[in-house]
Amino acid sequence: MHVSSGEGLEDSGDQTSANVGAQLRWLEPLSTVPSETSGPSLREHPMRVLSARVGRSEKLWSIRDAQRVRENFDALAPVWAERASAEREASLVDGLTRGRPGRGGTALEVGCGSGNHTQALSDYCNEVVSVDLSLEMLRHVAVERSNLVLCDASALPIRDSSVDLVVVVNMFLFSSEYRRVLRSDGYILFVSSLAEQTPIYLSPQDVARSLGSEFSGVYSRAGSGLWSCFHRVDSD
Ligand SMILES: C[S@@+](CC[C@H](N)C(=O)[O-])C[C@H]1O[C@@H](n2cnc3c(N)ncnc32)[C@H](O)[C@@H]1O
Repeated sequence: MHVSSGEGLEDSGDQTSANVGAQLRWLEPLSTVPSETSGPSLREHPMRVLSARVGRSEKLWSIRDAQRVRENFDALAPVWAERASAEREASLVDGLTRGRPGRGGTALEVGCGSGNHTQALSDYCNEVVSVDLSLEMLRHVAVERSNLVLCDASALPIRDSSVDLVVVVNMFLFSSEYRRVLRSDGYILFVSSLAEQTPIYLSPQDVARSLGSEFSGVYSRAGSGLWSCFHRVDSD
């Protein structure tokens, strides 16, 4: 992985990943934000542990994981919309603006939850397909004319190379599956709306490593969050 960093983030030093990861360039934030969000360590949080496991290899995602995650978010669905705020939305909007995935086109929003970010995405793209594992979450989506699909993002019911942009907000990275549905010149936007304090979290460097060298990315902070946006580029 090649990291050009303005915020002191460094390459892992792992020679293997140094050769296979996406290039990643730091963009200075447009307004003052903390360089790293502080709070209790989430290292042992079950969702954080699962994020790391799936980020390493999505083959490690099991039916039991899906059941556990679905139950967890079914229970949270009635109050999930209360978490929406301008501070949390800022990183998605900044990622769409400065990550430059291009306006219009078809976006796939994986793990949309109760649709807290679906409207902002719909304002940016021609068509948005929003998927989630939790029926209760989807029941709470209040965005007009939304295209909602109940499915597990580890096996998307979506054609190969059919999506311009995959948007992953506070959601697990199923790297091969997202690459499969993405067009050859498409983008993947990965957002953690509470930055390091987001339970389902991977660092931009981990995302870069997982996506591989056919991608090139930029990353930054905005509001309470941290985002990275990767463009699929020719590896030839
Ligand atoms: C932390 S919530 C984030 C929701 C929304 N993106 C947001 O930021 O408000 C994670 C969401 O991803 C969904 N999810 C988790 N694993 C999933 C999977 N394998 N396939 C589809 N959705 C999944 C959960 O049901 C939940 O709604």
